[in-house]
Amino acid sequence: MPVYRINGPSRLVGDVHISGAKNSALKLMAASLMVPGTTVLERVPRIRDVYLMKEVLERLGATVQMDGGTLTIDTSNEPLEDTPYELVTKMRASIQVLAPLLVRLGRARVAMPGGDAIGSRPIDLHLQGLERMGAKFSSEHGYVEGRVDHLRGANILLEFPSVGATETLIMAGVLADGTTYIENAAREPEIQDLAAYLNRCGAQISGAGTPTVVIEGVDELVADKHEIIADRIEAGTFAIGAAASQGDVRLVDLDPVHLRLPLQKLEEAGAEIEVGERDVRVRMSGKPRAIDLVTLPYPGFPTDLQPPMMVLLSQATGSSILTENVFEARFLFVDELNRMGSQVRVEGHHAVIRGIERLSGAPVRAPDIRAGAALVLGGICADGATEVHDEGHIERGYESFEEKLRELGADIDVV
Ligand code: UD1
Repeated sequence: MPVYRINGPSRLVGDVHISGAKNSALKLMAASLMVPGTTVLERVPRIRDVYLMKEVLERLGATVQMDGGTLTIDTSNEPLEDTPYELVTKMRASIQVLAPLLVRLGRARVAMPGGDAIGSRPIDLHLQGLERMGAKFSSEHGYVEGRVDHLRGANILLEFPSVGATETLIMAGVLADGTTYIENAAREPEIQDLAAYLNRCGAQISGAGTPTVVIEGVDELVADKHEIIADRIEAGTFAIGAAASQGDVRLVDLDPVHLRLPLQKLEEAGAEIEVGERDVRVRMSGKPRAIDLVTLPYPGFPTDLQPPMMVLLSQATGSSILTENVFEARFLFVDELNRMGSQVRVEGHHAVIRGIERLSGAPVRAPDIRAGAALVLGGICADGATEVHDEGHIERGYESFEEKLRELGADIDVV
């Protein structure tokens, strides 16, 4: 179990190069199953979730090679239909192979993902949408089994703009008979990236990034090459770290539009933000000001940046209210942060944060990936030594996290 040992406080100062987006890479890897031939993905982050998805694809019969940030996936052979339990429980995003397998084989068997540390995460919206497109599902022995002769286009109104369900239904619509309309679709940049990749392979998807996505079914897809977009969550984590440590950091090689609201909220909290075409500078001189914050689907404030933002606000002048609307159990790490001296009280899906002078270093435990990164930021801001005990969560999602932080001036190592 890796332990992040940090001696604080330090200011984060310098340039940091942003890696490719985890949440885009995983979906494009899954989508490659329905595009026979060789898909080449560039700017793929070297993180544990990507290696897990590589294992999923290999277990399904694909040949996958990782060379630096370039991933070559050969899906010429027909994949197997069975996605094993031990891989799905390690990484929920494995369920994104469901639609590609249904499209390619007309059948799929995927272990039910179950709950995780940030709450129960059902897949009902994925299944309801696929049923409207003609698929039939049964659930037995912890597995979902799907069958369909040929998917057909449908009008689907999502109850909630789920990222995963929108991606499943886009993949399902690409080779379906007729046109699929997804209304109340999620608008996350990673969905636009998935559509861009599939369109490059010959799909006809329009409206990705808006609440209505329209997919005209085509007869075939031809594998191609694609560069993954920058990881806005990694970038946002460093931006918040810069502000929380009263530092000065330039995020390099990303699309600043993907961070509009987080940057706006950092500005409200007192940071100075300079936005370039492909870079952003975040500076903070002095203590942050308290602000209120609500997490919402994109372009709202991302739930994945809520934990780091809580670290920043824990040291603000005044009291803040943070409302979590996307994942019910995302406040689980508050008890850990409070061990570092923060004064956060949770009431339902609201957290009331009374700003304190400074966090104080302590041993803490990371309950999930985003909370893990936030606790490391807490250690950088805190007085004295912090140990973040992490069951491998951080390396699931952040490429070279401690190296990047060390280059920015943090006193950190991993044992
Ligand atoms: C993705 C991201 C995750 C991010 C989240 C929200 C990946 C691999 N993960 O997760 O980092 O925090 O978007 O931005 O891309 N829901 C249902 N039924 C469903 C599907 C979802 O009730 O069928 C609920 C979930 O329980 C949750 C909410 O909808 O409360 C949001 O989930 P969703 O947008 O689907 O997130 P993920 O795709 O799982």
